[in-house]
Amino acid sequence: SAANHVRIVEVGARDGLQNEKTLLPADVKIALIDRLSSTGLTTIEATSFVSPKWVPQLADAAEVFAGIRKVPGVSYPVLVPNLQGYERARAVGATEVAVFSAASEAFNRKNINASIDESIERFLPVLERASADGVKVRGYVSTVLGCPYQGDVPVADVVRVAQRLHAAGCYEISLGDTIGVGTPAKARAMLRAVAAEVPMGALAVHFHDTYGQALANILACLEEGVRVVDSAVSGTGGCPYAKGATGNVASEDVVYMLHGMGMHTGVDLDLLVATGAWLAAQLHKETASRVTRARTAA
Ligand code: HMG
Ligand code: MG
Repeated sequence: SAANHVRIVEVGARDGLQNEKTLLPADVKIALIDRLSSTGLTTIEATSFVSPKWVPQLADAAEVFAGIRKVPGVSYPVLVPNLQGYERARAVGATEVAVFSAASEAFNRKNINASIDESIERFLPVLERASADGVKVRGYVSTVLGCPYQGDVPVADVVRVAQRLHAAGCYEISLGDTIGVGTPAKARAMLRAVAAEVPMGALAVHFHDTYGQALANILACLEEGVRVVDSAVSGTGGCPYAKGATGNVASEDVVYMLHGMGMHTGVDLDLLVATGAWLAAQLHKETASRVTRARTAA
């Protein structure tokens, strides 16, 4: 049943690689996404059409997007910060995009050089064009449980930004703990407050695991009713404009937990673990996924 199914939004090829010191060549990124496409994942964020000066790691967005195998039934959303990004994404055939703002003014300024209001103003023409083009738009709200520059973020600010993005036409709002400082009771209270204004079915959660709280936070949010979870294979990730943020929660660990709870994801855990181990080798670093470490230990 729907209550038992969780959709994983795999963000490893985007969030996972945007902050890596090791620059992977486009063909390795393409191989990563193609591997992910065979695991049963149905949403695989592919890259970002942001300024290459701001995120050089993803300067090859067009080449990567054009090169991946588009498996029927799988969506390959890409981040776009403005109309210019949208046009670059459309030029290579993207059919789903994501816009991104934050609940904190200070973070938004550092990340996209705009106030929250200015960022939403910029998204309106993107949403208009997307609607005319039949392109789905996801919306991210960052810093929902804390900001690296301003500290505490009032829940009311999260609710307001989420509500505005939803009202503007985003079909789903992903609530991001960008710096991984949240704890379960706070995560639950934040989600509950947002869900009073935006339907739970249109919400997703996005936890970075800096303080090791991500799985606990996800569990609290599942209990609250959320059924879409963002995660990154091998636990890669981080935002270059969020000091001290570490990787996303590992997809392998999320899938292991969900399957252990009797929930369905459609994802083949063995294939995901193999992909995570392969990616860690490409990045010359140990995987951050506990499941992949356990399954691949000699
Ligand atoms: P700006 O410098 O204010 O932009 O940056 P601008 O409009 O003044 O343009 C400056 C230059 O950038 C111009 O080039 C533009 O053409 C170019 P120049 O004339 O100097 O040669 N430019 C672009 N080039 C390619 N693609 C574009 C584009 N737009 C402008 N789309 C801007 C503003 C938004 C562009 C910049 O701040 C930016 O790209 N920021 C992106 C930062 C980013 O990607 N952060 C990580 C993603 S968010 C995240 O990770 C959080 C999340 O995971 C959730 C969570 O964890 O909370 C989603
Ligand atoms: Mg993130």
